[in-house]
Amino acid sequence: MDIPGYVTNAKLRSWVEEMVALCKPDHVHWCDGTQDEYDRLCEQMVESGTFMRLNAGKRPNSFLTRSDPGDVARVEDRTFICSRRKIDAGPTNNWVHPGEMKETLAGLFNGCMRGRTMYVIPFSMGPLGSPIAHTGVELTDSPYVAVSMRIMTRMGRAVYDALGHDGEFIPCMHSVGMPLEPGQQDVSWPCNKENKYIVHFPEERAIWSYGSGYGGNALLGKKCFALRIASVLARDEGWLAEHMLILGVENPEGEKTYVAAAFPSACGKTNFAMLIPPADFQEEGWKVTTVGDDIAWIKPGADGKLYAINPESGFFGVAPGTSVTSNPNAMASIRANTIFTNVALTDDGDVWWEGMTEEPPAHLIDWMGQDWTPGSNRKVAHPNARFTAPISQCPVIDAAADDPQGVPITAFIFGGRRANTVPLVYQAFNWNYGVYAAATMGSETTAAAAGKLGEVRRDPFAMLPFIGYHMADYFNHWLNFGRNLPNPPRIFCVNWFRRDANGHFLWPGFGDNMRILKWIVERARGRATSIESPIGWMPRYEDLDWRGMPGFSRQLFNELMSVDRNAWQQELLSHEEMFMKLYDRLPKELVFIRELILSSLWRSPERWGLAPE
Ligand code: OXD
Ligand code: MN
Repeated sequence: MDIPGYVTNAKLRSWVEEMVALCKPDHVHWCDGTQDEYDRLCEQMVESGTFMRLNAGKRPNSFLTRSDPGDVARVEDRTFICSRRKIDAGPTNNWVHPGEMKETLAGLFNGCMRGRTMYVIPFSMGPLGSPIAHTGVELTDSPYVAVSMRIMTRMGRAVYDALGHDGEFIPCMHSVGMPLEPGQQDVSWPCNKENKYIVHFPEERAIWSYGSGYGGNALLGKKCFALRIASVLARDEGWLAEHMLILGVENPEGEKTYVAAAFPSACGKTNFAMLIPPADFQEEGWKVTTVGDDIAWIKPGADGKLYAINPESGFFGVAPGTSVTSNPNAMASIRANTIFTNVALTDDGDVWWEGMTEEPPAHLIDWMGQDWTPGSNRKVAHPNARFTAPISQCPVIDAAADDPQGVPITAFIFGGRRANTVPLVYQAFNWNYGVYAAATMGSETTAAAAGKLGEVRRDPFAMLPFIGYHMADYFNHWLNFGRNLPNPPRIFCVNWFRRDANGHFLWPGFGDNMRILKWIVERARGRATSIESPIGWMPRYEDLDWRGMPGFSRQLFNELMSVDRNAWQQELLSHEEMFMKLYDRLPKELVFIRELILSSLWRSPERWGLAPE
């Protein structure tokens, strides 16, 4: 194998040599990250049948690919945190002893790239040269991963230069796990049907992924590096790696406030990241801009403020449900230069999915390549069908989205999908209360997620599938982190999904969430008024801006904000259940805050509510 002369990093050179000897690819391709390389790899996949070029008039330079029907999502039950000691992975992660796992992986990776090309993908998570960014190198036998990584990360030759002779990087090993015998015909979506392993070695800071070519299993910069491994780096180095979107709110005076928000899957995170304010707000000069839609890396600056970057440079968004009504900015972001996976194909060579338009086209090819008509009794796009698009194409991209220094965070928002119990919005009394609220976050399972429909799954900080160590140590890290900040961001909880007794949503959501966001931003800056409830500070009806929403009554709002003692007792019991699982390392602060909330509930009316008028 010839290693290009410009790759001077000694550790990288010897690691690639070692991995080539193990995986035995036919060829090695050192990615340079150019448009020309991207175009050639896409064309090569069109020729091999993995990609289909979409109608250039409707969707320029865009492609459709269909995965193997058994390789359609992240595989949480095949995801492992292999710390040396089981206790350090904690009860919420799968664990296997690293020695045993390495033996398994050595067997699986031996010769796994025969008949294929190994791509060497140098990438930066975050702007190159940013004090918050980190570097990785992924080795993969999937050209789909190579082109996707070019969209999702800052990928290319400049990363080798930045690494220099002795720069550090996270080694990310990936194989689809389907070597080709001489003469064996390839399939359009190679993967391993029997074995899938998504493995993290937190002490060694290495990632090994085998058997899947899909999303978070294969694009290792995203969940594996930017959350699981980065959460360990962040714990050790005193920063935060979070499953959060970052957005900017500009008021009519031109003052900009950035917030970071964590929501579990299926809570409209991408829609919130690109929120379009109601007409009255827009006319007055309110603007919302997007820094990121999924992950935030946050470090304290010398001035004591927190600075955040989006380590990614693309959107890997869920397609179904995205439309010009639900999220016009997302639709504009995917107008060109986009890779679509597992969506439907229209007769004129464009894409479609459930919810894109009210009426489905009369005929489509579904995500499995079969004919489909509106009478067909099955989904035309897979519920986890995705678009991969450059974030630079987002019409509301924030001017500082590429700033190596990051953007200053003034508030954190935590939200879940809850039909009852949790009010539309409240502010935690202080940092520790905020950590309590985030640690006990829950969300109802939707059809797309595993579990019984409507069941509340506790998903602390929306990090349950993404924390790289013991969840209770992570709570401790957050508590400690706040102690060292002179003026920590304020912490808020939201629930866009509360329903009335008949099961109807009480809150319209989408653009109207701006009313809540405005209060949050004003409140975090110490300007908005509120009232003390048993669980936190809350806006009253008159504390919110209702322009353009005359029909929304005080009574309806008060229902949305009510705190029911019985429901909250059940809620606290369920928090306790989770605490029990984490008890060996649970910070005592959380136990006492639970008691404080309980006593406040008992000192308040049985159904605490805002005054009628
Ligand atoms: C994602 C997720 O894919 O959170 O971003 O599941
Ligand atoms: Mn996510």
